[in-house]
Amino acid sequence: MGTRMGKSKARARKYRLKEQEKIDTGIFDEKTMVSLGKFFNKGVVEKLEFITARGKEADLYIARAGTSNLVKGEQFLIMKFFRIETSSFFKMDDYIIGDPRFQKIKVTSKYDVVKVWCRKEFGNLEIATKAGVDAPRPIMVNGSILAMTLIGADSIPSPQLKDADLREPEKVLDAILSGVKKLYKNKLVHGDLSEYNVLISGQTPYMIDFGQAVVLDHPRAEEFLHRDLSNILDYFAKNYHIKRDENRAFAWVTGQSQIY
Ligand SMILES: Nc1ncnc2c1ncn2[C@@H]1O[C@H](COP(=O)(O)OP(=O)(O)O)[C@@H](O)[C@H]1O
Ligand SMILES: [Mg+2]
Repeated sequence: MGTRMGKSKARARKYRLKEQEKIDTGIFDEKTMVSLGKFFNKGVVEKLEFITARGKEADLYIARAGTSNLVKGEQFLIMKFFRIETSSFFKMDDYIIGDPRFQKIKVTSKYDVVKVWCRKEFGNLEIATKAGVDAPRPIMVNGSILAMTLIGADSIPSPQLKDADLREPEKVLDAILSGVKKLYKNKLVHGDLSEYNVLISGQTPYMIDFGQAVVLDHPRAEEFLHRDLSNILDYFAKNYHIKRDENRAFAWVTGQSQIY
């Protein structure tokens, strides 16, 4: 009896490891496959080309755009596949709870949390795009998959700010701060801004990774904005010796002062 129990436990463990391996190697589960099918059926995507980044919560693929009007003018897209089993969804809860936009949504499983999170990033990208901020344009969301425009040339994504060579760093910093101000005017705070979540295309900074962005009603919006500004200002101080005062930048972004 005891050994039988032991065996079935071992089997269960082996099964779990196998499932984990599938996730680690990027083989999609059934729900993800069903969602992915919708992108093909709608003509948004024609082909998944290759994986470009493995983030904390998602795998990002480059895809060839389909024939849908939604992707008119685009040759390649970015598809962000949020991971379900290995997602750090407790951290996600922090940002969803407290955001009045998600008060009424029933969240009962990991998959539900990830779905809400994915839709939230889509909505945040819509706000950013409408606000005229340089950011990817959201194209379609389904389940745990988000499609957006690729920031880059052809199928090559632009480098992150941390790896970019800036000819005129002060101009780039000003452009980032202007973007943060535009977002704020549209009642959104990025919440995870840093040299990792800004891509440099040509010499133009594009903000990416809007999953955790919150509306101003969120109780921690101000704290997140201070942190975003500190991250960016610290980066430019350290790497380009540009010294700017965070409080003055904050006052300018929030419209409390006209100069900074
Ligand atoms: N729209 C995009 N165009 C080009 N590259 C992108 C785009 N979105 C993400 N990437 C690349 O993928 C990486 C991870 O994406 P990100 O949205 O930041 O995910 P994570 O939440 O895992 O950090 C980014 O650092 C960037 O290099
Ligand atoms: Mg990121």
